[in-house]
Amino acid sequence: MSDAFKSADEAEGALQAAIQENYTGVRVVRAFGREKYEMEKFDEKNDGYVAKVIKVSEGMSFFWSVGDAIAGLQLMLVIAFGVYRCVSGGMTVGTFTTFYSYTSMMIWPIRQLGRIITSMSKATVSANRIHEVLRVEPENMDEVNENMNLPFSSIEFRNVKFSYRDGESVLKNVSFDVGKGQTLGILGETGSGKSTIAYLLTRLYDLAEEGSEILIDGVNINNIPKSVLRSHISLVLQEPFLYSKTIKENITAPDLSVGEEELYQLAEIADIHDAVMKFTERYDTIVGERGVTLSGDRNRGLRLPGC
Ligand SMILES: Nc1ncnc2c1ncn2[C@@H]1O[C@H](COP(=O)(O)OP(=O)(O)OP(=O)(O)O)[C@@H](O)[C@H]1O
Ligand SMILES: [Mg+2]
Repeated sequence: MSDAFKSADEAEGALQAAIQENYTGVRVVRAFGREKYEMEKFDEKNDGYVAKVIKVSEGMSFFWSVGDAIAGLQLMLVIAFGVYRCVSGGMTVGTFTTFYSYTSMMIWPIRQLGRIITSMSKATVSANRIHEVLRVEPENMDEVNENMNLPFSSIEFRNVKFSYRDGESVLKNVSFDVGKGQTLGILGETGSGKSTIAYLLTRLYDLAEEGSEILIDGVNINNIPKSVLRSHISLVLQEPFLYSKTIKENITAPDLSVGEEELYQLAEIADIHDAVMKFTERYDTIVGERGVTLSGDRNRGLRLPGC
């Protein structure tokens, strides 16, 4: 039953993922007229889920009916044998009735136990799936602290080799130097590893290969605490992400100590200050999930860069 519960749970997960994808990507689906394809995709996942749930129900109905049949059979045997003993004079009707009522009182809790054991295996499957997430080790943020001069002034990639999965090399012997005040642009095909370089620099992934290292001011970044690295390197990710909070809270999310003046300066740099000031709520405008209320605001005809 555990296996059946597990695959039903996984099928439910896949179905939920398909539903979520369809809701979040509803505009894309409609814009490209992909309704039919998406409906077929949903049906396929749904059928898969239904088949798995039916398998679970079949298993349960088999165990329960067999369990009940055996329980009934036991009572039948007790009655048959009891009647025989009463008729042949080996037992009084009173003793038989008492024995019979005790037996029937015992059988039902035992039968119930079978159902509880089935529910337990379902609970164990669910608990294991939660544990898969809880078992992941949290990132270790407090490591050896090298005395660094801040802010950093130079970056060196030395024979950097990296792969996300064994055998699928993403970066092969990448080496470059960037000195203070220099700007480096990296061009490459989709999937060539440009974003990976930025992730490695902030230690979202660690380098494991021998002889492959990233140095900041001559110090191997594996010896620089992640907290120091991440508070001194700004990363503008490829996929923009906005919290469904106010514009102000979104700007100050990485550093809550940012004051009013600095907030305006930052907005000026990002070239959104004037646009924000046109909203009635200004910096207190709620951005909405993933920024939908900003660029989707047709009434005001406003469009924020990057939103
Ligand atoms: N978390 C991950 N797990 C496994 N493979 C990944 C992961 N992230 C990226 N990859 C793979 O690593 C390779 C490099 O990805 P990366 O995102 O660095 O490319 P990119 O140069 O930034 O591409 P793009 O121009 O599309 O942004 C790709 O083949 C990608 O599929
Ligand atoms: Mg990229």
